[in-house]
Amino acid sequence: MYIPRAFLLTLSFAFNAVCQDISLTEIPNDTSIVFQPSVLFEVAFPQVSGSSIEVNAGIQLPRNSTAIPPRFSVRNGGLHPGSSFVIAMIDLDAPTPQAPTLSQIRHFLGGNFHPTPGGRGTQDLVNSTVALSDFLQPTPPAGSDPHRYVFLLFNQPKGFNQQTLVNATTSVTNFDLSQFSADVGLGDPIGGTFILESDTLGAVEGALETVRMESSFQIPNDANLDFNPNFILDVTFPQAEGGSVPLSAGMTLPRGETAIPPIFNLVVPNAKCEADDFVLAMVDLDAPTPQSPTSAQIRHFLGGDFHFAPLGKGGAVTFVNSTPAISQYRQPTPPAGSDPHRYVFLVFNQPSGFDEQTVVTPTTSIANFNISDFAIEVGLGNPIAGNFMLVGPVAS
Ligand SMILES: *[C@@H]1O[C@H](CO)[C@@H](O)[C@H](O)[C@H]1NC(C)=O
Ligand SMILES: *[C@@H]1O[C@H](CO)[C@@H](O)[C@H](O)[C@H]1NC(C)=O
Ligand SMILES: *[C@@H]1O[C@H](CO)[C@@H](O)[C@H](O)[C@H]1NC(C)=O
Ligand SMILES: *[C@@H]1O[C@H](CO)[C@@H](O)[C@H](O)[C@H]1NC(C)=O
Ligand SMILES: *[C@@H]1O[C@H](CO)[C@@H](O)[C@H](O)[C@H]1NC(C)=O
Repeated sequence: MYIPRAFLLTLSFAFNAVCQDISLTEIPNDTSIVFQPSVLFEVAFPQVSGSSIEVNAGIQLPRNSTAIPPRFSVRNGGLHPGSSFVIAMIDLDAPTPQAPTLSQIRHFLGGNFHPTPGGRGTQDLVNSTVALSDFLQPTPPAGSDPHRYVFLLFNQPKGFNQQTLVNATTSVTNFDLSQFSADVGLGDPIGGTFILESDTLGAVEGALETVRMESSFQIPNDANLDFNPNFILDVTFPQAEGGSVPLSAGMTLPRGETAIPPIFNLVVPNAKCEADDFVLAMVDLDAPTPQSPTSAQIRHFLGGDFHFAPLGKGGAVTFVNSTPAISQYRQPTPPAGSDPHRYVFLVFNQPSGFDEQTVVTPTTSIANFNISDFAIEVGLGNPIAGNFMLVGPVAS
């Protein structure tokens, strides 16, 4: 089965994907499955930490974040409570996208998923029988380009539980979902999404993992945000004498290197991005000292109307703003004698009407700011990307 082009276009709009890999546009068209989704199908991978990573269409996930079988739900689907659904997950690119001789690999196939009320207007899809093919963790071989893993949701036809084509011992390789769908009468999928995974996304994955892990115990404690970024916010400080200093997640920067407002990029390999608007914020969690942060958070930057400049090299897309910042950039200035402060950078989707907000204006005190409260008040939702750094006082 190949994914029709309409699938991609629809997903990029329906899921409001921030960015997606342009290699996805190479997914061949197959007229045998028509993808006209009627529901927003959501897939989330639970993590060992207890949080979970929601799949945005086209997202690249580190392999070890997909170890636990995913959970499925639909957003605003209005599915009939008594109805049943079939869910399939397949790898289109095994063993490699260039020579997918084993594809499709069946990574999951199960029926008897029923809608049950979930949180935030969603319906969770909960199975009442074991899967035909249990979840297999994606395992692209070392050296392979990223594989495309596609999740599809189908209405369950009558008699599906009596099908004999696939059982727990049926080989998972060289599966043909299109054929299976035709044989058992699944019809066209009503929802779908996909992820990319490889064993070799090294640097990006490592950094994203660091941001997730480090931030997950730092940001929520102080900022009460569900921080599970799908993307790394790449932060680079231009230097007066020329050149620039890139920030690796969690690194300590000398104060002197943070004088000029940073440049923000989103790192998504091969990214092609929608012209959405974003809000960027930078806060100091530790003012005046980490031991007694009585004036935290300090707002070091807050601005809306960031969008993406035309695609640069290396898959990084640069944020440019089209309106003045609400709070101009302020250089970190931890007081003498303080331990290094944590400075957190966050990216949010910009809600409509954000430009009219009056919660924070250029004259609002930057001290005792609370990015969580602000996010709630103006409807920013949870951050979609982030990074952080440590800056200590200038040695005297
Ligand atoms: C897929 O290709 C067929 C023929 O090549 C074309 O008629 C059809 O419109 C294409 N579908 C999509 C969704 O691009
Ligand atoms: C995922 O891999 C990274 C890098 O190897 C590691 O630091 C991290 O602990 C792993 N995460 C989980 C949840 O296993
Ligand atoms: C749902 O599917 C999983 C995976 O096959 C299985 O472990 C679990 O028992 C199923 N639930 C029920 C109620 O059968
Ligand atoms: C499982 O399916 C295979 C074909 O894929 C078939 O040969 C085998 O008999 C089936 N096993 C059971 C227990 O139905
Ligand atoms: C920020 O606001 C949130 C939500 O009201 C609260 O839980 C959190 O403690 C506040 N953080 C600080 C540092 O005041």
